Amino acid sequence: CGIVGCVNGQSTVDRVADGLSRLEYRGYDSAGIAAGGDSLSVVKRAGELDALENALESEPISGTVAVGHTRWSTHGPPTDGNAHPHTDCENNVAVVHNGIVENHRQLRTELEADGHRFESETDTEVIPHLIEAELEAKQPPEAAFRAAIERLDGSYAVACVISGEDAVFAARQDSPLVVGIGDGETYLASDVPAFREYTDQVIYLDDGEVAVLRPTDWEISTVDGTPVEKSVETVPWSPEETGKSGYEHFMLKEIHEQPRALRQCLRGRVDELGGRIEFEELSRLSPERLHLVAAGTSYHAALYGASLFRVAGIPADAYHAHEYALSPPPGEALVVGVSQSGETADTLAATRAARGAGAETLAVTNTVGSTLARECDHVCYIRSGPEIGVAATKTFAGQQTTLALLAEWLAADTTDRETIAALRSLPSDVQAVLDNSRSEAVAESYLGSEAYFFIGRGLAYPVSLEGALKLKEISYEHAEGFPAGGLKHGPLALVTEQTPVLATVLGDGEAARKTVNNIKEVQARGAPVVVVTDGRSEADRYADHVLRIPDSEERTAAVLANVQLQLFAYHTAAALGRPIDKPRNLAKSVTVE
Ligand code: G6P
Repeated sequence: CGIVGCVNGQSTVDRVADGLSRLEYRGYDSAGIAAGGDSLSVVKRAGELDALENALESEPISGTVAVGHTRWSTHGPPTDGNAHPHTDCENNVAVVHNGIVENHRQLRTELEADGHRFESETDTEVIPHLIEAELEAKQPPEAAFRAAIERLDGSYAVACVISGEDAVFAARQDSPLVVGIGDGETYLASDVPAFREYTDQVIYLDDGEVAVLRPTDWEISTVDGTPVEKSVETVPWSPEETGKSGYEHFMLKEIHEQPRALRQCLRGRVDELGGRIEFEELSRLSPERLHLVAAGTSYHAALYGASLFRVAGIPADAYHAHEYALSPPPGEALVVGVSQSGETADTLAATRAARGAGAETLAVTNTVGSTLARECDHVCYIRSGPEIGVAATKTFAGQQTTLALLAEWLAADTTDRETIAALRSLPSDVQAVLDNSRSEAVAESYLGSEAYFFIGRGLAYPVSLEGALKLKEISYEHAEGFPAGGLKHGPLALVTEQTPVLATVLGDGEAARKTVNNIKEVQARGAPVVVVTDGRSEADRYADHVLRIPDSEERTAAVLANVQLQLFAYHTAAALGRPIDKPRNLAKSVTVE
């Protein structure tokens, strides 16, 4: 979910609505705004932000303070009633919330017994009623807010307006919140793009902190009121970087931004003359074992990274963060949290479990100031720039590249010339894929297929998983990724003339040769075959279509092959008219477990 708040003593609703539109990637099944000042007005609607915008046109509201929310449901279906903000009985308190209030049933029972009437099925609604109860007990507004927050168990980012108060009250526990300091106005949001247009000065809140924002001043303190000294930081990217720049979708723009993103990722890290990889932000690490923990696309990058670490001689395994958090495997390991947003609750739970067991942790993330970055002992940024499309693209390439660099850096003091050359030419090789890809025509020729299967071995295996995930996320077509060798152990039963198989074949080594055999197996069952390849093996000979990538080392070829699969997924979804940047039921940053 996404939260936005603004206080400027004048007109805040447009700013908050604009902020919500920039945070829609965090959830989009309902949205709402509460505007305050002398009195409160709330407008909220189920559905995408358009529904709220239309409602605001026919029913305009205004206020000197406002908070807004775009929702990804956790409790209760996406209806007008369940949309945030939620209010108290008298409409004096409006609250937006991300996360889960774990003790909401008990609090609700207590509040209902005291005469509070509830209007939604959400866990959030207990918060305005708790504040109302404190106000009725003659607590001043700020104290009432703090007292309510103290009663909550679980994870939350909460923002609240109270009638008669020219302030936004906010609190954070396990869910991100950042404060923006403008000229005569202050902002609050789950993520910086919400207000980047108006200011680049930010304060990242930490767990257990409360912020009270007024037009020209702000106070950060602990829940019990002890002031906390915070530094104001400058955001290192411009507002234009969060626009569509003429592309039809953020996803397509971000696919095309990959050469630049990779240049940024490599900058200063590859010393060609010295034949060295450098990470100035990392002190020398010498882990005996690595556990990479991640979710979704980042998990696929973690699988790819783990293979490279093993090749470099360091035992390494990738884990689904949600499983790792339940029972971290024993043994001393450097635990690497891989996460674009740095806010995925599953990944944070895994790194926290690791820290709890005494492990050192490293964050590999795109988001400066994110919770993961701040909680881990070490941090290494992938430098992809802001990614808005729900389907991760350039950040996957950034994760792959950063992990490839890390593996080299950890393995040896020097890196051979070929590897350095392959890494350095990655941006231009990705550009070549973008300029020459035939993926649109290939994608169109398979529209209407029953299912799509993606196969690969070695480094092509995580790429195949990612290719399938991308396709299913944005096209809603049935797509599965398999290790090419595993096909004959079950999935082959699903292969027919109606199920194209997309095989990624890199180089001409053993993995490539064996994958060619697997291609022959599916072909013998009548399946059409699309091969993504550098042309070094004989895979082309058995392909109905070839998506060619430049000749490169296997580790960099895996980045290039993925670009072809991103484009294949994009063009399939575009031809089917899907809402590519906002696929149903998904959100970019999932801050609940
Ligand atoms: C969500 C998104 C996925 C993403 C995953 C991990 O499930 O829908 O696209 O890969 O979170 O996100 P992270 O920010 O940790 O990389």
